[in-house]
Amino acid sequence: MTKDKIEKLISQLTLQEKVGMIHGNGFFVTKGVERLGIPPFRTSDGPRGVRKDFENDAWKDIGLSYDYVSYLPCNSALAATWNRALSHAAGKLLGKEARGRGKDMILAPGINIMRTPLCGRSFEYMGEDPYLVSEMVVPLIQGIEENDVAACVKHFAVNNQETRRLDVDVDVSERALREIYLPGFEAAVRRGKVKGVMGAYNKLRGTHCCHHDYLLNEILRKEWGFAGITISDWGGVHDTGEALMNGLDMEMSVTSDFDAYYMAEPLIRMIEDGEVDRKKALAKIDEKVRHILNVMDKLHMLGGDRCAGGYNDYEDKAALRQAARESIVLLKNDREILPLCRKKIRKLLVVGENANRQHAPGGGSAEIKALYEITPLMGIQMLLGGNTEVVYKPGYYNEDIGNIWADSGDSENGQADSLKQDDGAVQSSPEPAADTVSEERLRRQKEMNERYLQDALEAAKDADAVIFVGGLTHDYDTEGKDRADMKLPYGQDRLITELLKVRPDTVVTLVAGSPVDMSAWLDDVSALVFSWYAGMEGGIALAEVLFGAFNPSGHLPETFPVSEKDCPASAVGEFPGGDKVCYNEDIFVGYRYYDTCDVATAFPFGYGLSYTDFVMTGIRAEVIEDTVESKGVKVSFDISNIGSRAGAQVAQIYVADKYPRVKKAAKELKAFEKIYLEAGETREVTLMLEREAFTYYDEESHSFKVDAGSYMLLLAKNAEEIVDITEIEFEV
Ligand code: BGC
Repeated sequence: MTKDKIEKLISQLTLQEKVGMIHGNGFFVTKGVERLGIPPFRTSDGPRGVRKDFENDAWKDIGLSYDYVSYLPCNSALAATWNRALSHAAGKLLGKEARGRGKDMILAPGINIMRTPLCGRSFEYMGEDPYLVSEMVVPLIQGIEENDVAACVKHFAVNNQETRRLDVDVDVSERALREIYLPGFEAAVRRGKVKGVMGAYNKLRGTHCCHHDYLLNEILRKEWGFAGITISDWGGVHDTGEALMNGLDMEMSVTSDFDAYYMAEPLIRMIEDGEVDRKKALAKIDEKVRHILNVMDKLHMLGGDRCAGGYNDYEDKAALRQAARESIVLLKNDREILPLCRKKIRKLLVVGENANRQHAPGGGSAEIKALYEITPLMGIQMLLGGNTEVVYKPGYYNEDIGNIWADSGDSENGQADSLKQDDGAVQSSPEPAADTVSEERLRRQKEMNERYLQDALEAAKDADAVIFVGGLTHDYDTEGKDRADMKLPYGQDRLITELLKVRPDTVVTLVAGSPVDMSAWLDDVSALVFSWYAGMEGGIALAEVLFGAFNPSGHLPETFPVSEKDCPASAVGEFPGGDKVCYNEDIFVGYRYYDTCDVATAFPFGYGLSYTDFVMTGIRAEVIEDTVESKGVKVSFDISNIGSRAGAQVAQIYVADKYPRVKKAAKELKAFEKIYLEAGETREVTLMLEREAFTYYDEESHSFKVDAGSYMLLLAKNAEEIVDITEIEFEV
């Protein structure tokens, strides 16, 4: 459709019709205009798959049988693969199923930076590094949008905590904003050409992000050239005039009084009552409608051949299995306990409630009605078959409090209640939820834990091998609240400690979406594996890693600090803050802080072991144009697999300014590649560093700048393991 045709459509629309297109007329849909062939715009969550369908105006599961979908690895798992192709494959499946379900926009991916490991939604995001996020999000978006479905990156911007998420006011320096919190969104827009951006609930420097002129008009549209739709988070709009003027195209919420939304009747009244310049207001509304029609046109919603989408197919299943496999991070294998040899195990003890738990239906708006979810216990059983006796003991007691986000009774639905305070009144700034665990529940928990613990210890005595599968659940990794600390819940520290006393060869496996504190037993464990909410194939992928059918190659997309107290947001900045939260740690987020300030970590950013060994040497660099405005640097090195089995290593290139003129992190990730090598194979690898690899944001000139001078290029296995260094010089 040509521009002219879109303009013609706009000229034929009444004000009522236009307003109908820019706010929700159902929880996930806007009004169409039938007489002009403009369909309603249908959105759906979310990041781990296409969410189930709700009734239009009640948070009730319609109860369809055809909204069971693929359950994808959560974003932190995808990021842990460091594999762009897998990110693309996951996006492609997400887009295909979204389209198959008749959706126009999928409310994903979430890419807020992990500023603190305590953020309840860390599992929905891609870790702590803006470069890794950018590299992984672009193929994900492209995959989604290949299916005539819009992706929608969220939550723009600085939505880094759940505590008081609806209106906590973030104060962050312009430099940290530009270097840490925005690059993922910029890559999504400039390189990924994403068609949707969701505003964040919180405020930035005093203004709500869903109608933030600087974020939406200045940065997103003018600087980055965003041509798609800006959509509010559900209930994230607070002012009609600001929403009208400051760059929001579509308002959505969780309440069913659709006509009362800020960009509905109140907007029309505002214009009719002359509270705004009529001409300006109408032009702004036209602009919003134009953005929407443009996207509809690109998605072939206004005519033309539209992709039909589809459902999980054989090859999709394989891609999901591969993504789950590659996301699993081997953290310790001191005595080469792993991989376990199935032939030597006649009786296997599996301990831990997470071995037997399905996580798809939890977490908030990322909940999924999964086609199936293979648990670790099922995966192990599937792999070992009838030749091994698998004994399962829960080991700790997790009294399931129920997933409030998934319950269908209206009043119990987390989403319906997400804007409410305790007395039921809608408020804009809920206090963090009080701890509602009753004395009675705690007592029961303790008693049951003790019983389960003794039971597991007893069973461990005559087992040939013991695998513990614990970690977190969506009672902790969840939308709407942050964790109080990084401790493992349900008495797991004690259980792991006791198990290791009885069986020092116990393989400890953690399933979670964010880092946990392992200090109680970390020195005593020899075999330690971290798995995420890795999707429907997660359990079998984990089994394959544990028994050596797959050689692990996941690397951490975020630092695992020893404790949350070490994390820069808590140690230097503020977390969770009060009404306001000051990001005083500035650009020193994640490894930028631990590295520069020499703070010990449990496991560094980028860390991950393999069952084989790699040697990387001979880093050499060639400056293509050696001026400050240089076009880039070519970096080469050699990598060999010196072990006896095939595997993959993530080679990481960090840049360090040797004599920085402004404060800078000790080093920053600027390139990476996941390299698969057969046993004994050696390969030369060449990567390109663009100008951006050497820039920092200069607040005075409001631009990214490169200083002349010497830069070190560090070839690394992770942020703390540099294996080779070279230097380059930029001249003025
Ligand atoms: C979440 C969004 C989600 C929206 C719609 C909000 O609570 O913050 O990420 O897309 O609900 O379900």
